[in-house]
Amino acid sequence: MCGIVGYVGARDATPIILGGLKRLEYRGYDSAGVAVVNGNQIEVRRDAGKLSQLVDLVSKSPLKGAPGIGHTRWATHGAPSVKNAHPHLGNSGRVVVVHNGIVENFLELREELTSEGVTFNSDTDTETIVHLAEHHMAGGLSLEEAARRTFNQIDGANVVVLISADEPDKIVTARIGNAGGVVIGLGEGENFIASDIPAILDHTRKVIFLESRQMAVVTKDSVRIETIDGGEVKPEIHTISYDAVSAEKGEYRHFMQKEIHEQVRALTDTLAGRVDFQEGRIRLPELKLTPELAKRIQRIYITACGTAAYAGMVGKYLIEKIARIPVEVVIASEFRYSDPIVDENTVVLAISQSGETADTLAAMEEGRRKGAIIWSIVNAVGSQAMRVSDGSISMQTGPEIGVASTKAFTAPLVDQYMLAILLADMRGTLDETNRRELVADLRLIPDLAGRVLDREPEVEKIAHELKDIKGCLYLGRGINMPIAYEGALKLKEISYIHAEGYPAGEMKHGPIALIDEEMPVLCLAPQDPWHEKMISQIQQAKARGGMVIAVATEGDELVAGMADHVMWIPKTPWMLSPIITVFPLQMLAYHIAATRGLDVDQPRNLAKSVTVE
Ligand code: F6R
Repeated sequence: MCGIVGYVGARDATPIILGGLKRLEYRGYDSAGVAVVNGNQIEVRRDAGKLSQLVDLVSKSPLKGAPGIGHTRWATHGAPSVKNAHPHLGNSGRVVVVHNGIVENFLELREELTSEGVTFNSDTDTETIVHLAEHHMAGGLSLEEAARRTFNQIDGANVVVLISADEPDKIVTARIGNAGGVVIGLGEGENFIASDIPAILDHTRKVIFLESRQMAVVTKDSVRIETIDGGEVKPEIHTISYDAVSAEKGEYRHFMQKEIHEQVRALTDTLAGRVDFQEGRIRLPELKLTPELAKRIQRIYITACGTAAYAGMVGKYLIEKIARIPVEVVIASEFRYSDPIVDENTVVLAISQSGETADTLAAMEEGRRKGAIIWSIVNAVGSQAMRVSDGSISMQTGPEIGVASTKAFTAPLVDQYMLAILLADMRGTLDETNRRELVADLRLIPDLAGRVLDREPEVEKIAHELKDIKGCLYLGRGINMPIAYEGALKLKEISYIHAEGYPAGEMKHGPIALIDEEMPVLCLAPQDPWHEKMISQIQQAKARGGMVIAVATEGDELVAGMADHVMWIPKTPWMLSPIITVFPLQMLAYHIAATRGLDVDQPRNLAKSVTVE
């Protein structure tokens, strides 16, 4: 949830840390801070609000020195304020910490420390960490040993980074549980620490990922990794291929808008190397799927959160329709508690942009514990979800910075379509003609995506008309039902307008009572097998005075004659239609929020990676 950056080397740490935090601001933006070792002292600057506040503060009151650590916060314990902003200093001022996660036993630790005379200066759980480390150092331990002892005392999922003015050549960090990633960037005579790769890509592409219960001691010339119990670890060095440029806004006003438009490229890359159009076959080598394994599978659980879960609901349609394997979609935060029926012939397929969502990782662990085959569809390269999977499909979207997910929604739709074909092919349940047709349809996607995006000005006009609505119903059926959920989520999270996605057929069982001239009804009515049903839904909404905004296929006179506004999509094979129908809904939500003057990329109360349960 929070973003962390650390630097050790000969340069001044502060500009490097602020540059890195800028790339991590999507993880939290309640407050921010930075601490550096300057000579024999630790100096700290912190401010409430967004990172820009901290940047202003540092420009008025500059910081010099290294090593340094920085933090951008998504508040859990303690309101967003200066005193609760990280980094937190110990009482001696010689040790300082930044933290991501929740110290579950902090009350107990706080009581113990207070009774020993420690003064707490914030309401955070984080502060217990620095006081514990300081206490152990005062007892004669080195920073590394004091940190190790502290890591073993705190409960919960946590990422911790500590520096001390008494050992100014190093940073000590640890990852315990699923509290978000720790990536260590390897430079020449300098090293970096961050929560996520984009923060350090300007400086290096060689990285090491910390696994749970590992700690690292990082100096300018060395990185030593051990378990927090002292066990030896031989780290693997990864080279990251995407560059930092794709994490810039470019000509767009917001990252979300840029990312909506990047979907043409992202979807093209999703297909590249995986679709053999000549043979009419799909290749997903990272999934490590064999015909034997494919034939063994009796059930698939798709587990994910939010937008990723809605992508999974589309996947259920595709896999059941094409591969004829029963699929259940279970929200990751519920998976562990639903006592899922899982055995060695069950696949648990996690979908996650960040690959760090705590609930999704916990669902994967539960699947593992029960003996399932664990697969994932993940965007963030090297993330925990990818690492713990037996097989994975990597979304080829590049970094997604806007908090509202867009390209990481459409990429897994294509991934699941390809997965469905591959499974069916290996299980021998798809004849050659059908397989070739399904594969050939994939070729259309980039062009269809480009054509629907070209209609942005029309969607923007509708958005201007709708900017003051108080609520909106989103209706869909069949394979486009999850798109109604996703469209509603996009609108509510960035525009703060209440929106509800609903299966259109359920309207008459209650929600139709909501429809009057104040309640716009957005109907997904592309040319798919549920088109006729949606037409009657539009009629029912119109009969009750509702304003209908429809998503329909170009040339659909029937819909044009009934709806108040139409957002057109090109003619699309119905199984691929959710990939295309969602584009107008993303653009609509974006333009409504932008017209209302809202902070589209950093909506209130949200963060990009949800690493707390
Ligand atoms: C909504 C959104 C969230 C995420 C959810 C899962 O636009 O972005 O609903 O989809 O928090 O995140 P990941 O995909 O990182 O596991």
